[in-house]
Amino acid sequence: MKKKLIAGNWKMNGSLAANQALMQELLAGLGAPGCEVAVCAPAVYLAQLQELLKGSALLAGAQDVSAHAAGAFTGEISAPMLRDFDVRFAIVGHSERRQYHNETDATVAAKAQQALAAGITPIVCVGETLQEREDDKTEEVVKRQLAAVIHANGHCISEIVVAYEPVWAIGTGKTASPEQAQQVHAVLRKQLKAASASADRIRILYGGSMNAANAATLLAQPDIDGGLIGGASLKAPDFLTIIAAAA
Ligand code: 13P
Repeated sequence: MKKKLIAGNWKMNGSLAANQALMQELLAGLGAPGCEVAVCAPAVYLAQLQELLKGSALLAGAQDVSAHAAGAFTGEISAPMLRDFDVRFAIVGHSERRQYHNETDATVAAKAQQALAAGITPIVCVGETLQEREDDKTEEVVKRQLAAVIHANGHCISEIVVAYEPVWAIGTGKTASPEQAQQVHAVLRKQLKAASASADRIRILYGGSMNAANAATLLAQPDIDGGLIGGASLKAPDFLTIIAAAA
């Protein structure tokens, strides 16, 4: 059976001092986790994370990656650069980037492609807005978002991680019910299976107000293979509880 993956997305939070304190508490409580665990830090802290994570079971992740390999792209960070800092995962297509940075499905697909080429696992985020859910467009939206990544990445698709993050559940305290989440995860699984014979090994994470109290029931769903955690990943005891629930 595939190991679950619990990934923290710190978003634009942290400082040298706060990261050190958080990681110290986290590593002290982690032991030998029964699942894979990653933290996705702001890029400027990846060097700090590389030092703090040495010899630990925790893996480093980035929150974004350039859609280009190298060159005149001021401000961008390439996948090979992330590799220099032992980065193993890169979130691509987070709804906050789609929304505030106008990232299209094609951009997200190119970012996933760049990550894969550098040996980094892209965590591809998909999810519908509240309006789209109310308009009964959830399936259509998540399938369109995932299709772009499948199309661009062909046989490498079994190397990705998918994260279903309903936009209306992010940072709102409103979680999708386990049934609502499972329903969408099953749709995504079917789509992945049609694209790859190895789709069973692809982990589909749930993200959106996952916390210490609701993690266990969400993670018990047959197609929920882990979590992408925002707010609760900034509190070591909460994040440790979620990790334990995934073991
Ligand atoms: P919250 O857990 O804070 O809702 O954030 C979820 C998220 O966006 C993770 O990428």
